[in-house]
Amino acid sequence: MGKIKIGILVGSLRKASFCRKIAKTLVSLASDNLEFKFIELRDMEMYDQDLEDEDRVPDSWVKFRKEVEQTDAVIFVTPEYNRGVPAVLKNAIDIGSRPYGFSVWDGKPGAVVSVSPGAMGAFGANHMLRQSFVFLNIHVMQQPEAYIGNVMSLYDENDKITDDDTQVFLKSIIDSFEEWIKIVKPAV
Ligand code: FNR
Repeated sequence: MGKIKIGILVGSLRKASFCRKIAKTLVSLASDNLEFKFIELRDMEMYDQDLEDEDRVPDSWVKFRKEVEQTDAVIFVTPEYNRGVPAVLKNAIDIGSRPYGFSVWDGKPGAVVSVSPGAMGAFGANHMLRQSFVFLNIHVMQQPEAYIGNVMSLYDENDKITDDDTQVFLKSIIDSFEEWIKIVKPAV
């Protein structure tokens, strides 16, 4: 049996992004049954329905849709911007959802990990994503929920995670997600 292919979308473009550190930690803790691809959002044009309707779909959209299609499941690791989802990630979700009837998200198992230097762990962004996922029919893992707060205290200067409890928790997230994928998509 092949490995389960998981796409990771990080909702921050920042070089020193804590979300990306958390995403990399999740990858490092995963079982050998999983393989990961970071699906990069930096070069994605903003969604504009005219481009779709006038057959001028940007290459970046085509690439993105194909990359998501080739995954068995997706993990969203996101910061919170003004109590919501950063535009770069929402744009990617919208691009993947169109043209109408050809959404790349339909039926995918998904997981949300939200990350913040603050105490609330980007709860607002986490649940804003979940709101879209109801409509998009992304089968999002409900438990365990992952709100990673106070993230600035979790890594050392070499980007190594230093907080044992968080490491154990992140391991439980990625292991639970593997189980969740097998429930949602037993054929994978
Ligand atoms: C933020 N930040 C932030 N944090 C939070 O917990 N709730 C929020 O609503 C916001 N709002 C917000 C808006 C904007 C425009 C910026 C740039 C930042 C802080 C944010 O969590 C912090 O910059 C993180 O470090 C961003 O994640 P990365 O880039 O480290 O992955």
